Amino acid sequence: MLILGIETSCDETGVALYDTAAGLLADALHSQVELHALYGGVVPELASRDHVRRLLPLVTTALERAKRRVEDVDLVAFTQGPGLGGALLVGASVAAGLGIALAKPVVGIHHLEGHLLSPLLAEPRPAFPFIALLVSGGHTQLMRVDGVGRYELLGETIDDAAGEAFDKSAKLLGLGYPGGPALAALAERGDPQAFALPRPLLHSGDLDFSFAGLKTAVATALKKLGPAPTETQLADLAASTQAAIVEVLVKKSLRALQQTRLGRLVIAGGVGANARLRATLDEAARKRGLRVHYPELALCTDNGAMIALAAAMRLQAEPGRARADYAFDVRPRWPLAEA
Ligand code: KG4
Ligand code: ZN
Repeated sequence: MLILGIETSCDETGVALYDTAAGLLADALHSQVELHALYGGVVPELASRDHVRRLLPLVTTALERAKRRVEDVDLVAFTQGPGLGGALLVGASVAAGLGIALAKPVVGIHHLEGHLLSPLLAEPRPAFPFIALLVSGGHTQLMRVDGVGRYELLGETIDDAAGEAFDKSAKLLGLGYPGGPALAALAERGDPQAFALPRPLLHSGDLDFSFAGLKTAVATALKKLGPAPTETQLADLAASTQAAIVEVLVKKSLRALQQTRLGRLVIAGGVGANARLRATLDEAARKRGLRVHYPELALCTDNGAMIALAAAMRLQAEPGRARADYAFDVRPRWPLAEA
């Protein structure tokens, strides 16, 4: 079965072709980073309009790369939520339109389920059950995953997401949007112990996170540095911020493994691209005999491939899920447990 995957939940237009026998055939992406950089964050209306412009040309690109024709598509999968309402509607309506034109079924996929299953596109594929650490711009969650559609939330952030902590701290440091990669790059040149920043909820005993206080601590530290901090001071603060976020993510992930007595951890979402997070987790895993799986670097952030894969796996478990009535809706707020 050839699945066309469409992702338009935020600021990336992603289209992929996934063959259930041959695997991922093509993955085409357009990032809106430059479009929103001017405003220091995602402007929803601009995001929607850009998805409208980019989506169909990207479908053509993906088909060309996969050497397939649009008539070869057996199923159209799109991100139904969570995300920006207008942006989601672009993907949903194009998916329904293609479905009608091709007389093929359409299926709506949960964005986080896509992230969660994206490490299964890499080798070696993690086997169920595993613990998933989902760290994106909007979510920070620890989940127990027993199989497709069997997700138990163990803990999550009570305020900002890890990606948001990266982005907001980066903004304070005068770095551009999106802040995560920029802050990580600056941190390379800094001392992670230069500033004693808080590790909220580190010893709370549960698996919840809190990152809002960190942003305040970064702002306070910055103020103390005066009106003209040096490049070294900024790099030190970036490194210390990254270290604080990473330490909490790693410790809580290890606690989740310990509590559930599982030995496999899967990382998903944009922050999963962070090199320090990967290095720290790998080191901890090596010491404890655990296994950590990551999506390919390019598939950490939003993409169509994870949506096509999630559709393939969902339909295998639940064939009745695909629809051919071409009615569609989007779910900007949608708990994964209800997917
Ligand atoms: O999963 P994603 O592409 O979009 C959402 O669904 O939110 O994640 C985007 C988030 C942003 O907050 C971005 O700053 C962060 O992932 N991010 C990173 C890195 N690359 C992306 N954070 C830290 N280090 C990185 N290398
Ligand atoms: Zn995402």
